[in-house]
Amino acid sequence: MSDDDLKAISHYLKSLPGDQSRDGTPWTYASATPVPAQTGGSTARPGAATYAAKCGFCHGTDGLGRSPWIPPLAGSAASLIEHADSQVNVTLNGSARVVTAGVPDSYRMPSFRQQLSDREIADVLTYVRSAWGNNGRPVTPQDVDALRKHTDPASSSPIILQMR
Ligand code: HEC
Repeated sequence: MSDDDLKAISHYLKSLPGDQSRDGTPWTYASATPVPAQTGGSTARPGAATYAAKCGFCHGTDGLGRSPWIPPLAGSAASLIEHADSQVNVTLNGSARVVTAGVPDSYRMPSFRQQLSDREIADVLTYVRSAWGNNGRPVTPQDVDALRKHTDPASSSPIILQMR
């Protein structure tokens, strides 16, 4: 597709009206969300400490990411929709290198499959989905376990990924 086609498609998608009866109140940034250091550690908000240790230096303690390399988690569609599969998948498996404006990025989303347990990934994503005005459904260790098995690169059965 030409650049003009791609621009026209993006323009059209961004122009579509939201549906408040389906999606609820539109997201607004809640800057008052306590940053992990102020929450008294993991007891106050499970996942806050993991976020501070593993995610905050890229995505920001404010959740706003670092444009154009690192996407925001505050207000992102994946933080607000009911199903967290997309976020669980990218946290487990990371993502491939992207090229922005002809320059390859130097900050890939790392894979946390080996580093974090199902409980830790569930807690950190539940934190992400409830911080900065986000109101996504909490994530359970069972959600993570299911995708961990389906997307296991060492598995002999095919990897099944269905994004929603
Ligand atoms: C080294 C920097 C870095 C670290 C550390 C990092 N990320 Fe990311 N993350 C990225 C980049 C870059 C992307 C964009 C990847 C892409 O678009 O392919 C991303 C994408 C994501 C996405 C998808 C965003 C969307 O809108 O769908 C989620 C969710 C996410 N990261 C969560 C996390 C969590 C949770 C942690 C900590 C456990 C974390 N990230 C740690 C760099 C990082």
